Amino acid sequence: MEVLELTATQFLKSMSTGRNHPLLLGCENASGNKFEVVVKLRGREMDEKAQMAELLTAQLADDLGLQAPQAALVNVPAGFEAIIPGHELAKLVKGSPGLNFGSVHLGAGFTTWPPGRNPVGAQRDQAADIFAFDTLIQNPDRRAVNPNLWARSDRLGVYDHEQAFSFLSLPIIGGAPKPWVAASHGNGFRFLEQHVFYGNLRGGRLNLGPFKEKLGALTDKRIQGYLETVPAGWLGQSDFGGQVAGYFCEARQQREGLVNLVKHILR
Ligand SMILES: Nc1ncnc2c1ncn2[C@@H]1O[C@H](COP(=O)(O)OP(=O)(O)O)[C@@H](O)[C@H]1O
Ligand SMILES: [Mg+2]
Repeated sequence: MEVLELTATQFLKSMSTGRNHPLLLGCENASGNKFEVVVKLRGREMDEKAQMAELLTAQLADDLGLQAPQAALVNVPAGFEAIIPGHELAKLVKGSPGLNFGSVHLGAGFTTWPPGRNPVGAQRDQAADIFAFDTLIQNPDRRAVNPNLWARSDRLGVYDHEQAFSFLSLPIIGGAPKPWVAASHGNGFRFLEQHVFYGNLRGGRLNLGPFKEKLGALTDKRIQGYLETVPAGWLGQSDFGGQVAGYFCEARQQREGLVNLVKHILR
């Protein structure tokens, strides 16, 4: 996935859903091409680590064959808040100048996955891939009540990964849980029981071969390439980005164990 580099030029609307109140902004690249981008500004639950989680997982999702909106780095120019309606939103914009995470709006023809819907036909394999992906990135935020999923015809897609890898920023006794470590079974992965597809996939046939193959095909260079898209200003003092990249490399090596945990949880 090519990560676009854009500058915000227009306020279109505030996305009404979502804890972080993303904004839909009109943006342009260096050649003047226009894009409509859902931008997740810092503030509320978003910080640089959350933005990094979004940026790195969008690229991983794409390489693992999941449908994800194209990622973008959106420069919010100083003073942009002047064109933002409403004091609260203007304050959010003022507090988040420079580069922010954005995803290109999916455009017409997609629907938001409603709570309670079940995947059918070809969607079942995609649902299993999404479950495995959320196990890998340890994303607790695709729950039945708020699926953070979309669909276009029979294709399922993902967004909203700012809560992935939160285990890296918490001091956990015995180290961060890893889905390929046998001791992790049932320990640190209970959040997956709230996953939107947990109930539907349990006890059924799982076809995770293609997912495992794509994970195995990732190279260190490819993963390093994800890291190179992270703006210097997000890196700060911590090595969060480097830790995530190292975790991806380990996940590739340990993919058999990862898939085994998924099968164990969904047995
Ligand atoms: N690229 C996109 N195209 C279309 N709609 C989007 C896109 N990204 C986010 N949205 C919409 O905005 C909502 C909020 O975005 P999300 O990333 O879930 O933010 P939050 O962290 O606030 O929940 C999503 O649930 C979805 O409805
Ligand atoms: Mg959301």
